[in-house]
Amino acid sequence: MPQRTVPVSSRLGDVRYEIRGALSRRARELEAEGRQIIRLNIGNPGLFGFSVPAHVRAAVESHLDRSEAYCHQQGLQPAREAIAEREQARGAFGAHADNVFIGNGVSELIDLTLRALLNSGEEVLLPSPDYPLWSAATVLNGGRPRYYPCPASRGHLPDPDEIEALITPRTRALVLVNPNNPTGATYPRELLQALVQVAERHRLLLLSDEIYDNILYDGAEFHPLAALAGETPCITYSGLSKMYRACGYRVGWISLSGTPSRLTEFRTALDLLSALRLCANVPTQWGIAPALDGPDTMAELVGPGGRLHATRQAMLDGVAQSEFLDVVAPQGALYAFPAVRTEQMDAFDDEDFALDLLQSESVLVVPGTGFNIRERNHFRLTLLPQADEMAEVFLRIERCLQRQAARSGRARHVA
Ligand SMILES: Cc1ncc(COP(=O)(O)O)c(C=O)c1O
Repeated sequence: MPQRTVPVSSRLGDVRYEIRGALSRRARELEAEGRQIIRLNIGNPGLFGFSVPAHVRAAVESHLDRSEAYCHQQGLQPAREAIAEREQARGAFGAHADNVFIGNGVSELIDLTLRALLNSGEEVLLPSPDYPLWSAATVLNGGRPRYYPCPASRGHLPDPDEIEALITPRTRALVLVNPNNPTGATYPRELLQALVQVAERHRLLLLSDEIYDNILYDGAEFHPLAALAGETPCITYSGLSKMYRACGYRVGWISLSGTPSRLTEFRTALDLLSALRLCANVPTQWGIAPALDGPDTMAELVGPGGRLHATRQAMLDGVAQSEFLDVVAPQGALYAFPAVRTEQMDAFDDEDFALDLLQSESVLVVPGTGFNIRERNHFRLTLLPQADEMAEVFLRIERCLQRQAARSGRARHVA
């Protein structure tokens, strides 16, 4: 009798996460054969020699004996107060510890908030390119992504008119990722103000993923959306993973802002969903208040002479020296999203290129289509390695592109 396989949810058919997908599995196979792969697919600072600030780690260690019970479903009170104070200081209307929810990373809270919000078939406005968890969580919660373009030709910025044209009676929320993953774009104040107006006109909930909030280069400025949104309901997402290099701690949070009466039902829904999963990991929540109240440990990494500054420059130099590449210089976050000029490569395909780069040059990047864009000529890499390694990566990328161009040229010649 033929064996019956266990069937899975049909919703998964539309869900992808290429950052840890097929290419990453292929990289593991190559590593098992003894190859050294330069893995630039994940923004995971701890894997590149960055460490959690000592005062944050010490706070976690010294509170282990107070971390053995479940805590309140919204998170530890002192941590929520520190988050609320920061939001208030930034000017977020209505921010309060009672309106803060701590989760196991922003990842969990993206899912939780969309679960609280969406009915089947309702629409969420997402950037294209996006951080693909936003698309996945929309689909898994019965929603439909509607993508607003953020093309390289516009510095990867959205256009409020284009966004407004996508709104239907079923649209519920507008998602922003600022500073952006994967493009590194940071959004100007006027643009954010225009987006708030769009949200207010159409009664959309603003969902602002600000996990890279102070990772900024070349004098770029970050404007917290909640401060500009005023009374318009806004959920701000942040956490310890990136700013405090603590991905493995799994600590993220959301802060609700806007007129409280407009958020009552939504807040109750979040409270119920949070209670159903009991609470987030307790030990690492003790790191939140010291992280937010302590010294700035990011400025020295992103400023001139800093490690991230140097690697970003090595990436920009690599692109400038390339025969094939363009990039919008990232203003923030931990990634670059270069584009390949494909005139010399008729059949260029980002997924084929990324596989070729992995197999022939031992460099792992993520193809641009993994971020829900139509164009097939982008890839994303993280800015976390040392500058000399980034320079080496661009030599390998160039070699790979030269071979692809030569093959394409030969194919054209034969035709
Ligand atoms: C834009 C963005 N949002 C959310 C996350 C999830 O972060 P975490 O679950 O570690 O808090 C990431 C991780 O890379 C991200 O880039």
